[in-house]
Amino acid sequence: MTGIERALAEVVGDAHVLTAPDVTASYATDWTGRFRGATPAVVRPGSAGEVAAVLARCAAEGVAVVPQGGNTGLVGGGVPLAGEVVLSLRRLATIGPVDPLAAQVTAGAGATLAAVQRTARDEGLDVGVDLAARDSATIGGMVATNAGGLRVVRHGPMRAQVAGVEAVRSTGEVLSHLGGLAKDNTGYDLAGLLCGSEGTLAVVTAARLRLVPRYDQRVTALLAFPGVEPALAAAGAARHRLVDLDAAEVFFGDGLALVCDVTGLTPPFPDPHDTYLLLECAAHDDPADRLAAAVAGLADQPAAVAVGTDTATRARLWAYRESHTEAVQAGGPPVKLDVTLPAARLAAFVPAVRARVAGAAPGARCILFGHAADGNLHVNVMGASGPPSAVTDVEAAVLGLVAELGGSISAEHGIGTAKRAFLHLNRSPAELAAFAAIKHALDPAGILNPNALLPARA
Ligand code: MLT
Ligand code: ZN
Repeated sequence: MTGIERALAEVVGDAHVLTAPDVTASYATDWTGRFRGATPAVVRPGSAGEVAAVLARCAAEGVAVVPQGGNTGLVGGGVPLAGEVVLSLRRLATIGPVDPLAAQVTAGAGATLAAVQRTARDEGLDVGVDLAARDSATIGGMVATNAGGLRVVRHGPMRAQVAGVEAVRSTGEVLSHLGGLAKDNTGYDLAGLLCGSEGTLAVVTAARLRLVPRYDQRVTALLAFPGVEPALAAAGAARHRLVDLDAAEVFFGDGLALVCDVTGLTPPFPDPHDTYLLLECAAHDDPADRLAAAVAGLADQPAAVAVGTDTATRARLWAYRESHTEAVQAGGPPVKLDVTLPAARLAAFVPAVRARVAGAAPGARCILFGHAADGNLHVNVMGASGPPSAVTDVEAAVLGLVAELGGSISAEHGIGTAKRAFLHLNRSPAELAAFAAIKHALDPAGILNPNALLPARA
């Protein structure tokens, strides 16, 4: 063991400092396999106090640290690409009792979303954010990346669920504000600041989460359209007409064909279609009639409709959408770009981004899917991750187009290392200077995830 590894072992115990390369490898590579790094050590503290002691020792030695939860991130923000120590929060998995009056729960950073969902649902409540990686994604990582997912149209992103956080600065100071008061105008909203900070300001060790009602009556409809415009118009109409709209997801014919090829699923309709919109309503009473009436009232009627009210049928309809990630991944590490467009420009973006990808990476496949009601599309480019320069061409082409159209280069996955060189497309020099000042104020040693989010210093 080196000096810093011995110092960390004094804090957490030998068993919780992992140094064998075959053990640390899975912590050093992201889920897609596109971002591969190496680390001298993975340290696994068991309490906020141990996190504080670990960070204080790393700061004293000038050792950089990458905080990591379930390692489900997609932008290289949670893996040690420059030889950082990995600070794994997975042992902080305690979930407190649900407060039914306040509809809140406190969860440790390492608790998985699925575990918190089970706890909340047992009490007739639910977590407002849901995403396909629910079994691995952890609350700390979801706070740090301001995760979005499938229910943002109704409940907002992770930032909207967070009523308080406990976090540790690189100085070793613990910032704890977990009271969860609905009204609390006592100064800076540190919890809000830490949402989306990607582990660069402080390490989130616990969060007080607002919970939402558990809706037991759900209906799901898959609508097929001859083009993206009527599909997005239908998503907009559903949003306005359906108070219990829980999800509005979009995908396309090429993505569905890929999903069916890779997973063996039977296509939902006998004929292929251009664009598919998945709508889900959830309520305490049966929302099926309300959803049917909203579909019947659409100006442009879908060419085909499949409806699921029972669990198995709904799961099959969702599988067409949720299997996109796995189906794309089956072709090797893709370039994954996650963007938001202003609602009025989303339809035009679809053919435009396909053209830009074709220009930047001839022969690559461009699979689009995402969260229609949020204006959030996932641009997945398959077959372009050869030489790094080709990848950058695709990224520059797509993200440049997004900025031209007034969109965001990161909707819900974060900036990580993948997009830090492009942050200037969305953020002014004055904003970036404010970011740098905040970073310095909270992490004066500059050891917290130094290669993520903020642009590299010239
Ligand atoms: C999704 O919406 O399925 C997730 O953001 C994951 C992905 O983009 O692949
Ligand atoms: Zn998504």
